[in-house]
Amino acid sequence: MPIRESVWNTAPTSAPAQRGDRYTTGSAAHPAKMLPAIAAHAIRTYTQPGDLILDPMCGIGTTLVEAVHLGRHAFGTEYESKWANVARANLALAARQGATGHAAVTCTDARHLLAHLPEQQHGTAALVITSPPYGPSAHGQVRSTRESGKRGVIKTHYRYSHDPANLAHVSSDHLLAAFTEILIQCRHALRPGGHAVITTRPWRTRGELIDLPSAVLAAAQAAGLIPVERCVALLAGIREGRLIARPSFFQMKNVRDARRAGVPLAVIQHEDTLVFRRPVTRAYSERPKRRAGDARCATGTARTPDTACTFRSRTCTTGRHHDLR
Ligand SMILES: C[S@@+](CC[C@H](N)C(=O)[O-])C[C@H]1O[C@@H](n2cnc3c(N)ncnc32)[C@H](O)[C@@H]1O
Repeated sequence: MPIRESVWNTAPTSAPAQRGDRYTTGSAAHPAKMLPAIAAHAIRTYTQPGDLILDPMCGIGTTLVEAVHLGRHAFGTEYESKWANVARANLALAARQGATGHAAVTCTDARHLLAHLPEQQHGTAALVITSPPYGPSAHGQVRSTRESGKRGVIKTHYRYSHDPANLAHVSSDHLLAAFTEILIQCRHALRPGGHAVITTRPWRTRGELIDLPSAVLAAAQAAGLIPVERCVALLAGIREGRLIARPSFFQMKNVRDARRAGVPLAVIQHEDTLVFRRPVTRAYSERPKRRAGDARCATGTARTPDTACTFRSRTCTTGRHHDLR
């Protein structure tokens, strides 16, 4: 079946404007939050009021908050207790603001999702919406000398945590294998025909391009999900037919550094948004699956359709760190 492609106009306003007073102040410290309009668009497109939505790596709970405001019910897991607590605070705020859906968050490794989701809800979720960690650190926030009183720009809130077991801190092979396990849990939680929406971005580490979108495609297929759409969710606004970029300070700095070193990079202003479906027929869903680790690159031989070994490419040989999230 052909994969549909489309562009989601998800940033007509900036992230802070979208969050407004719907999120607690503690939310700002998370380094890689989903844009609320991306979550809301996916929820409106793939679900109906009253449906169940899951996010196995829910961070501060953006997907859950948007779900309950749209009258859906939601369940999330998050590895870090700090972020799980912020997600619960955000859901409590949503309830005070009149959200009609109900949601819960469990602090656990998402590889155990089904052990925490009530058994009667297995196989009933209409939508999984999530994003895996984008490398060990993300943009965070910057303070100038004038703001901090200290010399130079100070970067804060750019890490998910310091726990080496957080999937943000493992190798890309390990992340891919673990994410496959998480998606297998999600496939069992989804109802037949239910959708999974996964937002990702590529990143670079020491010159190596980590093509996370292709890796996620491989992981989802290995988990028995069918790819149905590949979309661009804009992080840039559109004014009079032109894109209005909203790059972070570090995105700009990293791209400028790379260009000075002769690497022709561009600022990324979208999330790669991959949409999958749980097969309806038993015949497909019960087919033997590759195990999680099989999606890894072993000897350089392609083992997963289109993707194996293509998620890494060394496009910069300077050994310098160009982190382009
Ligand atoms: C890209 S962030 C998700 C952000 C979220 N969409 C939001 O808007 O807040 C990925 C999250 O996965 C969490 N994480 C990492 N390893 C995990 C695991 N094994 N199980 C569950 N969550 C995990 C990280 O702590 C991080 O909060």
